[in-house]
Amino acid sequence: MPVYVGARSKLDGNCMTDNLGVSSFPGPQGPHTGVSIMSSTSAIRLDTLPFDHERVVVATGARSSLPIIVAVHSTALGQALGGARMWAYEHWTDALADALRLSEGMTLKNAAAGLNRGGGKSVVCLPLGTTLTDEQKRNAMLDLGDVVESLGGSYMTAEDVGTSAELMAIVAERTEHVCGLPADQGGVGEPADATSEGVHASILATLDALYGSKDVAGRHFVISGLGQVGGRLATRLASEGANLTVTDVNVAKKDLAASLGATWVDVAAALTVDADLFVPCGLGGVLTSQVIDELAVRGVVGAANNQLADHTGAGQLAARGILWAPDFVVNGGGVIYLDMAMQPGADAAAIAARVTQIGDVVAKIFRDSKANGITTLEAAEQLAAARLDAA
Ligand SMILES: NC(=O)c1ccc[n+]([C@@H]2O[C@H](COP(=O)([O-])OP(=O)(O)OC[C@H]3O[C@@H](n4cnc5c(N)ncnc54)[C@H](O)[C@@H]3O)[C@@H](O)[C@H]2O)c1
Repeated sequence: MPVYVGARSKLDGNCMTDNLGVSSFPGPQGPHTGVSIMSSTSAIRLDTLPFDHERVVVATGARSSLPIIVAVHSTALGQALGGARMWAYEHWTDALADALRLSEGMTLKNAAAGLNRGGGKSVVCLPLGTTLTDEQKRNAMLDLGDVVESLGGSYMTAEDVGTSAELMAIVAERTEHVCGLPADQGGVGEPADATSEGVHASILATLDALYGSKDVAGRHFVISGLGQVGGRLATRLASEGANLTVTDVNVAKKDLAASLGATWVDVAAALTVDADLFVPCGLGGVLTSQVIDELAVRGVVGAANNQLADHTGAGQLAARGILWAPDFVVNGGGVIYLDMAMQPGADAAAIAARVTQIGDVVAKIFRDSKANGITTLEAAEQLAAARLDAA
């Protein structure tokens, strides 16, 4: 199903477009007026993506003049929940491609995590090389709040790459459909601790499947991306005696690497380091066909969303004997935390136990994959589909 843009759109430039108006796309069943579009610059190409989303809104922020994209993939299990990404793209269609794939991933993630939540995602598209002032960030978040509010409660946003609990508090000035605000403002805070815990539990499950032991000490991990999740994970694994090789596009992260006694390599070199596990914690699309060919690890387990540049990557990884823990299961700790923590009477111990259970789900996926001769991606998708089909 192609993706269409509305007829009055002028969405043909880079991200610094202005006065675009609002184009709202109700999904496959709704009216499509306009021309098909594609991206030639994204690692994830727009013209390769299926379009089965319930609704996608592309708007120009009235205050920020930035493209604001909200993609609601599914509300079959309940209100869609997924973070807001503020990131630089070469072209706004790359941001749209990201939103489409990320929101689909959220449907799978929330279903696999056992939540009564659908899948959605928002993206604020920055031009390449842009650093926003605090006032510009504020304007972008107010604009995001307006778009989220326009969806009438079908989607709830939260922080993601490039946003924060503090920025979500600004979104909350325009809509109630936002979570993860700072604790001192009555919110539940950022979910990165829980996400990191879930990735850690998944790493243990993967080590167990590969080596028959969950012992981290002496194992060699390559962590790519030392942000909120990757940084926490690196610190935890180092404290447990792991041998770490790390990288980040932000070289300022070298300080953290040094403090942990980790070996720093550049981003490209990290992909070919001989190690036990590759742990992608940067952005998506890292597992291209070429990268999979060159990986020198026994398994891949990380926080990054949409790690596979193409779905065929799951089969390619399996053929190379590399055990891949599906990203949308591994990184579900954050949504589990947000969903459970915002319920009245939320219990921290119950949330922690639920997040740790991600390791059991990953172990089951490995078993199902082996028993049924399917990839780990297929096994994870079957798990999510079973819930969606029953909805
Ligand atoms: N924060 C969460 O709770 C959460 C939950 C689920 C999934 N995720 C996913 O996990 C990943 C990391 O999230 P985060 O919250 O730590 O984000 P973050 O923005 O705090 O950190 C991302 C880090 O990756 C680095 N990076 C970006 N591109 C890179 C590349 N090509 N190679 C290496 N490093 C790169 C950035 O410089 C940054 O330090 C993202 O894909 C995010 O969508 C995060």
